[in-house]
Amino acid sequence: MAPPVFFQSFCFLLLITCVHHCVSHGEEVLLRKSNQHTHVMRVSSLLPPSDCSTSTKGQHSSGPGPKKSPSLQILHKRSPCLRPQKAQTQPKTPHPHHFSLEQTLLQDQIRLNYLQNQLSPKSNNLQKQLLKKKTTSSLKSRPGVLYAITSYVVQIGLGTPKSDFTVTFDTGSDLTWVQCEPCVGHCHPQNETLFAPTHSTTYSNITCLTSECDQIFKATGDPARCYSSTCGYGIQYGDGSFSAGFLASETLTVTPTDIFPNFLFGCGQNNDGLFGTTAGLLGLGRGNLSFINQSAKKYNRFFYYCLPILSSSTGYLTFGDNGISGDKNVKFTKMIPDPRGPPFYFLNLTGLSVGGHKLGITPSVFSTGGVIIDSGTVITRLPKSAYAALRSEFRRLMSRYKLGNPLSVLDTCYDFSGQSEISVPKIVLLFGERFDVEVEVDSSGVLISNGTLSQVCLAFAGTRDDGGLNVVGSWQQQKLNVVYDLGKQRVGFGPGVCG
Ligand SMILES: *[C@@H]1O[C@H](CO)[C@@H](O)[C@H](O)[C@H]1NC(C)=O
Ligand SMILES: *[C@@H]1O[C@H](CO)[C@@H](O)[C@H](O)[C@H]1NC(C)=O
Ligand SMILES: *[C@@H]1O[C@H](CO)[C@@H](O)[C@H](O)[C@H]1NC(C)=O
Ligand SMILES: *[C@@H]1O[C@H](CO)[C@@H](O)[C@H](O)[C@H]1NC(C)=O
Ligand SMILES: *[C@@H]1O[C@H](CO)[C@@H](O)[C@H](O)[C@H]1NC(C)=O
Ligand SMILES: *[C@@H]1O[C@H](CO)[C@@H](O)[C@H](O)[C@H]1NC(C)=O
Repeated sequence: MAPPVFFQSFCFLLLITCVHHCVSHGEEVLLRKSNQHTHVMRVSSLLPPSDCSTSTKGQHSSGPGPKKSPSLQILHKRSPCLRPQKAQTQPKTPHPHHFSLEQTLLQDQIRLNYLQNQLSPKSNNLQKQLLKKKTTSSLKSRPGVLYAITSYVVQIGLGTPKSDFTVTFDTGSDLTWVQCEPCVGHCHPQNETLFAPTHSTTYSNITCLTSECDQIFKATGDPARCYSSTCGYGIQYGDGSFSAGFLASETLTVTPTDIFPNFLFGCGQNNDGLFGTTAGLLGLGRGNLSFINQSAKKYNRFFYYCLPILSSSTGYLTFGDNGISGDKNVKFTKMIPDPRGPPFYFLNLTGLSVGGHKLGITPSVFSTGGVIIDSGTVITRLPKSAYAALRSEFRRLMSRYKLGNPLSVLDTCYDFSGQSEISVPKIVLLFGERFDVEVEVDSSGVLISNGTLSQVCLAFAGTRDDGGLNVVGSWQQQKLNVVYDLGKQRVGFGPGVCG
């Protein structure tokens, strides 16, 4: 039996007036759909998947526009869709798909140390240490744990004839490297066969005292060294994680039609740390040695990606414009040059809004330490005072839910056990002098769970003080098109079409 018409309209009015007020007064019963300021989500979507969803496996899209640019499929390092066939040097690898929030936070701290170190490089004879002795990493020995310096991988081809390698991609560093034969120190276990320079007809070493070798310092924060006139590099990513070897040139294959001869990369003979079972790293920083600069003639220093959520394999990394710069949904903010960190993409983050309320944060708290966007940091780091403002407003709007135990840097966690649907305030990052570039974090990017519903945390953290480096992390970039236009020195954000 239908309720009387006047009652229906009354409910409708109530619903309208509720949009702004009820959210903070615990009457979300009336809000069945996400609105302008709130995500309504099923709690099941907060839990990591146990299986690769076969409906999404293998598909990928490069997003809107004509498909003339190559798109590489992105997988999350811990995606169940990424099943190594056989790990070459370590047959019984621990289950890499088990998602642990604790591990992620530990890994994130290491990543932040790397970023900080890059901002204040100190010459410490790193390579000398690395190339001479077998270095052991403090992380390697931990059983059952596979760390990764960045969470996302793509596949590239190297050498003639070409071999394919699964590499992490990293917007926070320039130098591309793969593990190379012979290993003189340590090589971490990887799925594919090690790259063998002697099996390729297009490999050549770079000699010292060349302009190419000179780039090593900017790209790694450590000066190049000469080993029988070959240019040596060493790059340290924090807490014992590193790669050291020789700068070389080789043919890099992105797609059968997009081939880059004489691509400069690191042939890593001693590598250890947080690389999971990947063969190495693809450097997408803004500096000279970056793949982006080395492929400039073809792709015009333009790329974009959509980072998939954990359970999906539908992410993409696309090189070249592909029409996306004309997409009305993509809003651009400028890249800020910062001499402290040549590979990094600094942005002018100026504010935040939560549940439709712009927080009263002085924009200068962001610019003091600077803000970078990074594919390798998971949790977004905000200046202490900005985070405090975010947390307090978020907690206020979420006050109807039971707080749970904090976990490491995540101090705003909820216990959603017994709930089936929750309403979560939308978080918007504001960029630019007039706060006019609004980037709404996807619903998947607001909260992060420890694998259970009893600990689901606000996926943002504060830095120790207002002067440290701040980072827009990958969790908050999920499902967005993040567009890097180095020619026009701008970064754009729009809704992505990935899982
Ligand atoms: C592992 O390597 C094999 C061939 O060496 C390849 O077919 C497979 O796709 C790789 N798996 C991953 C997860 O990279
Ligand atoms: C590259 O240089 C290293 C170190 O000098 C040397 O061991 C290796 O044989 C060289 N490779 C080639 C192909 O020249
Ligand atoms: C990049 O390389 C060019 C040409 O080798 C050089 O002039 C320039 O100084 C380099 N830029 C940086 C930031 O190292
Ligand atoms: C990029 O590469 C070119 C050479 O291909 C170089 O001249 C230029 O300075 C490089 N660096 C940047 C930051 O564009
Ligand atoms: C960033 O925005 C702030 C706030 O309006 C402005 O004062 C500052 O000049 C901007 N910084 C840069 C480098 O554009
Ligand atoms: C998640 O957090 C809850 C509550 O703090 C705890 O009881 C549980 O053991 C945690 N689970 C994992 C997998 O860490």
